[in-house]
Amino acid sequence: MLKYIIITICVVGFVESFFWELWSNPIIPVREFNGHKVYRVVPETLEQLDVLKWLEADNDLDFWTDAAIYQNVDIMIQKDKVNEILNTFKEYEIQYQVMIEDVETLVAAERHAIENHKPSRRFDEIDWYSYYSYDEIIAWADSLDCGENVDISSQVYGSSSEGRDLKVYKFTNGSSDPNPRPSMWVDGTFHAREWISPATVTYFMNDLCRNPSNTFLNDVDIYVVPIVNPDYEFSTNFLVTWTECGEKQERITIHPLDASVLVYPNRNFEFKFGGNGTSNDKCSNNYRGPNAWSEPEVRSLAEYLISTTNSADWRAYITVHSYGQYILIPYSFDNETFPADFPEMENLATDMESAMKAIHGTPFTVGHSGSILGPTSGCADDWAYEVANITYSYTYELRDTGRFGFLLPAQYIIPTAEETLEGLKYAARFITL
Ligand code: ARG
Ligand code: ZN
Repeated sequence: MLKYIIITICVVGFVESFFWELWSNPIIPVREFNGHKVYRVVPETLEQLDVLKWLEADNDLDFWTDAAIYQNVDIMIQKDKVNEILNTFKEYEIQYQVMIEDVETLVAAERHAIENHKPSRRFDEIDWYSYYSYDEIIAWADSLDCGENVDISSQVYGSSSEGRDLKVYKFTNGSSDPNPRPSMWVDGTFHAREWISPATVTYFMNDLCRNPSNTFLNDVDIYVVPIVNPDYEFSTNFLVTWTECGEKQERITIHPLDASVLVYPNRNFEFKFGGNGTSNDKCSNNYRGPNAWSEPEVRSLAEYLISTTNSADWRAYITVHSYGQYILIPYSFDNETFPADFPEMENLATDMESAMKAIHGTPFTVGHSGSILGPTSGCADDWAYEVANITYSYTYELRDTGRFGFLLPAQYIIPTAEETLEGLKYAARFITL
């Protein structure tokens, strides 16, 4: 009898722990990209551009760059769609080339790098030899100790849609003079698929913290948000989940290449909300959300910038994205409207570019966002310039120019971060001159 009771307890315990495991650690299948390819086309007529815009609305295709005339447009196409799409290209005489033969090979390499790296590291330590998750990055940032010369403090400025902390880290030399202090804002990870963004921004934080030669901290406070959109969490684990997207279909919404969890935060700001280059289709990469500020990640960031003006004299706003190697100057919302300060903004951008290029020879295209990449609205850079009145507002698009695109292998993190650091530091020094 006792034997049966014991067996029953064991079985119940086992079954229970099994379900507990499942509940706390849902098994989510890894998404595979076998046979997915990335093609590059360059629309040279308005008709060709229209064809691409129309393909962009097809949610089985994943546009890695927005379609714009005379620009490189990179499109990830799943295996079973390749023939059909190539026929469309041929029909409209759109020239194309293959950029990535097999997306899965690159994704698998990163997955591997992350897994192999794990045993050798502490949870709150990161290096720049692989990509890290939100939890790891925040644990690392929270444990940063910058010693005597630099004061680091953090603040939770909001909570994400899924309840994660929105965190900003402030670096200063501790002086409160003058008040408000000249200040610069740097943020990363609006978009899940732009893995190089948090990697680079954390490298910048590490340098601010540990490099004793950053004397600009005597004159400027630097605020850094490594992850604007923390609900990208699953993407670094290469896990997927399925969710209802629109009425017609289910679509993977959280995966390594997804733009965000449904809403594209960089289309959700109020300034020019809903304008060119945005979509009201939930399944689109350019989905702007139901209304401006619908996303807490976006609203809280804007509120923080606006509500801190007693202590921070905001002079520069730089949002770090990938890819394409650009330093983009507002406005983004159309291709012919230039801000009044454009000449000064362009001067600083050109100097940042020289500083960045000097490190490894990597060139960046400097110019007006809306005309270079085509219009897109409700963006952070336009809002920061126009509404928050931050003159030196930029979007950086880091490496590369498309060989790997979003799947930049981890070995390029350090060189990318090293060159970007120089652009950011140049801006920090410049704004107090
Ligand atoms: N990576 C940025 C985004 O997707 C690019 C913004 C500039 N793009 C443009 N089409 N002007 O939000
Ligand atoms: Zn982006």
